[in-house]
Amino acid sequence: MDTAGVVESMGGRAGRLADAFRARTGRTPAGVWAAPGRVNLIGEHTDYNDGFVLPLAIDRSVLAAAAGRADGRLACWSLQEPATADLALAEIGPGRVDGWAAYPAGVAWSLAREGLAVAGADLVVDADLPAGAGLSSSAALECAVALALADLHGAELDRPALAAAARRAENEVVGMPCGVMDQMIAMLGLAGHAMLLDTRSLEREQLPLALEAAGLRLVVIDTRAHHRLVDGGYADRRAACEAAARALGVPALRDATLEQVEAAAGALGDPGLRRARHVVGENARVLELAALLRVGAFDRLGPLLAASHASLRDDFEVSSPELDAAVEAATAAGALGARMTGAGFGGSVLALVPAGLVEAVAERARAAFAAAGFAAPEVLVVRASDGACRLR
Ligand code: GLA
Repeated sequence: MDTAGVVESMGGRAGRLADAFRARTGRTPAGVWAAPGRVNLIGEHTDYNDGFVLPLAIDRSVLAAAAGRADGRLACWSLQEPATADLALAEIGPGRVDGWAAYPAGVAWSLAREGLAVAGADLVVDADLPAGAGLSSSAALECAVALALADLHGAELDRPALAAAARRAENEVVGMPCGVMDQMIAMLGLAGHAMLLDTRSLEREQLPLALEAAGLRLVVIDTRAHHRLVDGGYADRRAACEAAARALGVPALRDATLEQVEAAAGALGDPGLRRARHVVGENARVLELAALLRVGAFDRLGPLLAASHASLRDDFEVSSPELDAAVEAATAAGALGARMTGAGFGGSVLALVPAGLVEAVAERARAAFAAAGFAAPEVLVVRASDGACRLR
């Protein structure tokens, strides 16, 4: 689909969502806002170590139709989830909202902490990206709602501030100790580009990703073995990284070298050494891949993607049998490289594939999953897209 086609289909979805909003609330929405999901090209589990990431926003998104209210209540509906919520804003707080409504409620709560007193709103949301697939549906939901609430109140928060508020909602109200990558790319993505982000300084560089012109496609293989990050694996890895940084005497693993890590093997122990080695190596791979993007060497990205996956599988131990099978299948069918993307523990694989081999990669993945007794994967071709915006 060309860019015009994407915009048109978003417009069609926005119109249908506005109709759904009227049916549920009896009111006309003041607007419809959108925020994209993402894939991370490289730089996994580096963001909460003050490191580098290289994500891109994709042409799958969460839409939020909204209208303000003056009675201090936030009412939430979803076209995908049966549960609805009608919450008093004054009662929203850490651990006090269950289910998917914790994301929009958390955003209203954290915006209030930024000085934006939300007066109330009706929200109806619609997603065309799967939840729990490692494509950042949570950040997309948070960012669509953050932009909607900020616009409804005429607030002057810049995009990094909105991303920070969205992340705080997830950290404190939902209880998932994520880094800032997903919210930053949902807010700041640029069509046709991947964004190199220094998560310590928040300095960023948009790097052209002219894959189509180079005859390549970005293929996502959603294993449909979905994770629930709040279940602890993610928090455990984060704590292990913080412990390793303390043992090394550095503020964060961003500041450690591979030599330092290897020399401290005894103090770090196992798995501390392997966790630290992943983060330090992954940061270096991000910078190497960024350098290749700067010169348009798209055909040379494969080995870095493969090395990232091996490190996440063997050293960081956040892959899964389904993710490994998808990487192997994609590579065997001719992908230049493939790796798990997102937090892991299930979710999706990203593969860089010559345009003529996309169907072969999909077929090979489906066959490998069937042979292993896994549920059939979902295969999508994604393209680098713009960040959050108001659609109407
Ligand atoms: C999740 C988190 C991000 C990041 C990735 C792993 O997507 O939300 O902050 O830590 O996992 O790279």
